[in-house]
Amino acid sequence: MEDLKSQVDTENLPRHIAIIMDGNGRWAKQHGKPRVFGHQSGVKSVRETTEAAAELGVEYLTLYAFSTENWNRPKFEVNALMALLVETIRKEVKTLNKNNIRLAAIGDLGRLPEKSQKALKKAIEDTAGNTRMTLVLALNYSAKWEIMNAVKSLASQVESGNLTSEAIDEEVFSNALATRGMPDPELLIRTSGETRISNFLLWQIAYSELYFTPTFWPDFRKDSLYTAILDYQNRERRFGKTSEQVAK
Ligand code: FPP
Repeated sequence: MEDLKSQVDTENLPRHIAIIMDGNGRWAKQHGKPRVFGHQSGVKSVRETTEAAAELGVEYLTLYAFSTENWNRPKFEVNALMALLVETIRKEVKTLNKNNIRLAAIGDLGRLPEKSQKALKKAIEDTAGNTRMTLVLALNYSAKWEIMNAVKSLASQVESGNLTSEAIDEEVFSNALATRGMPDPELLIRTSGETRISNFLLWQIAYSELYFTPTFWPDFRKDSLYTAILDYQNRERRFGKTSEQVAK
């Protein structure tokens, strides 16, 4: 078997990988199972991807676990997703600590069910000292919500005289976002063949390489991550420059 991992250039890794985990429902349907079974099966992919990213030396892995729009799903599915989240977070803290991985979360967390908030808060506290990689869960997250929040926070600082409008630059704005302190993702992956961004990290992905794979999330494995990174590493990142300038 081809060893994909050994082909990855660890000197040229994305510092931050963001993933839109999609296709759990369709995967379940393909297997003649209820949608929730797809979400449950997706947990294994979360585990494998996290482990693979940490082993390679990726610094931040952000997973879109629940979007603001996901509240529109049938109540039964929303409840099942929340329960799965709590259960997974509780169960995985030990493994996170063993692997020196810190948990963080972005999103409108105050609107999550009390139980989810508590489990999340505890796991974040219990892993706060870990330094190998940060696993960021986007929960009740939407990029438009995040940007509106940043705008409101900056506006109120201007109102109260703690900030001038002239002082607002890209850095100040970035620091008002939920991702403050994190590098922007160099690589954004979406599974399941959909080619949309779906309100995910709109500001932060200005220069990200986008990678779309038909693989449904529950089938995403370590090799799938290596394949995405290899694809990224074969691209030329120009940031508006010419090829000749980049080659210098
Ligand atoms: C998208 O598939 C997936 C989700 C909305 C939820 C992702 C959640 C998990 C993998 C479970 C636990 C996660 C963590 C981080 C503990 P979909 O339901 O939109 O699939 P479809 O497009 O085929 O219907």
